[in-house]
Amino acid sequence: MRPGFMSGRFPVRVRLSAAEIPVNLKSMFVPVETGVSMIELYRDDFFAEIHQRGRLQERLARAHQFFDQCCPGLDRIGIALCDDSLEKVKTFLASPAEGNPLTNYHISLCDAESLSKTAISGQVRVVNDLEMFIRGKGDHTHKIWDLGMRSSYTLPIFEQRQLRGFVFFNSRRTNYFQDESLNQMALFGHFLVQMVLNHQETLRTLVASLRITGKMMHYKDPETSSHLERMAHFSQLIAQEMVAQGEIFLDDEEIDHLFRFAPLHDIGKLGIPDEILLKPGKLDAQEWKVMRTHSGIGRAIVDQLINEFGFSTMPDIEILRHITELHHEKIDGSGYPLGLEGDQVPIAARIISVSDIFDALTSTRPYKQAWSNQAAFAELEEMVHRNQLDPLSVAALQRRRADVEQIQQVFYEQS
Ligand SMILES: [Fe+2]
Ligand SMILES: [Fe+2]
Repeated sequence: MRPGFMSGRFPVRVRLSAAEIPVNLKSMFVPVETGVSMIELYRDDFFAEIHQRGRLQERLARAHQFFDQCCPGLDRIGIALCDDSLEKVKTFLASPAEGNPLTNYHISLCDAESLSKTAISGQVRVVNDLEMFIRGKGDHTHKIWDLGMRSSYTLPIFEQRQLRGFVFFNSRRTNYFQDESLNQMALFGHFLVQMVLNHQETLRTLVASLRITGKMMHYKDPETSSHLERMAHFSQLIAQEMVAQGEIFLDDEEIDHLFRFAPLHDIGKLGIPDEILLKPGKLDAQEWKVMRTHSGIGRAIVDQLINEFGFSTMPDIEILRHITELHHEKIDGSGYPLGLEGDQVPIAARIISVSDIFDALTSTRPYKQAWSNQAAFAELEEMVHRNQLDPLSVAALQRRRADVEQIQQVFYEQS
């Protein structure tokens, strides 16, 4: 930086048009309108876009383009993340995204021996001939092989000594990952790790700030944190199942956001007076009217936090708004606050509504016993019959009964 650069001798003349000058630097620079002889060279910053808050999927594709220019033959990049509580590794991002056979896929770490070894040792795993490696291995290895990949490089992602996931590089060439290219891969790999961890950190800050707000509510709300964990997992399960059946299209990144935002659905109850929220008996018509304002309050709280933390450009932030504001909408238009009908109810809100009701029915509450799963499913079917719930979301949850039971066992109610 030149002496005096920040000492108030602005404005500086630059070779940019007014529209190209970054918004927060506008007061410092004036564009040069006439051509002048150049003594500096300017080059596009290829990575600039990667620091925008766009979807990670697009940023990965951009990074892959650049890596491929430096190291032709780097044919595929995959990133998988850990689901801490269920000890699974689930697919998260891939480039190229088109024709990716590994979406909506997860595997238990216990069943992935070689990945576990990589995670425990903290070392990079290089396999330069997948043919030697593929015999008897899991589905994911076969899918990568069928895609024509012959070499693989796996970097475990750690954050404060906790395993967070893996970066996978693949090439169609055997013996691709050799000598100098290994150093390049290490650099690329850690670049991607930073990109993903930064994104996750931002997401965690947003969710944590909302959950801290929600914790204040929790002390006066009958719903428990295990309810929130279970309904978030049920929501993820429904979305995964619907995607697997080709009923909706959500990529792994969107499903991850749905999962993280699900526990915030009732954040608006913060604004409901205690005498109504904690009333032991039935609410009268006027009290119900007040109670129903919680979805609009939820949306207002979310909007305020999004603005104050500067999260407005965050991808999929609309999912959070849909969950908080629209989780009481019904397919027949009888729900609130907007009385949306059918497909007007966003998919995130339809899924949340099913998982929230299912968990409320199967949980013990001060005013009722827990229903059996069978009875709760019958009630959901009845609600589908009355055109209140999304039939595809209910059917998806029913098809995954075994996973539902596993989630209930992991996140059981502690009294
Ligand atoms: Fe609610
Ligand atoms: Fe709930």
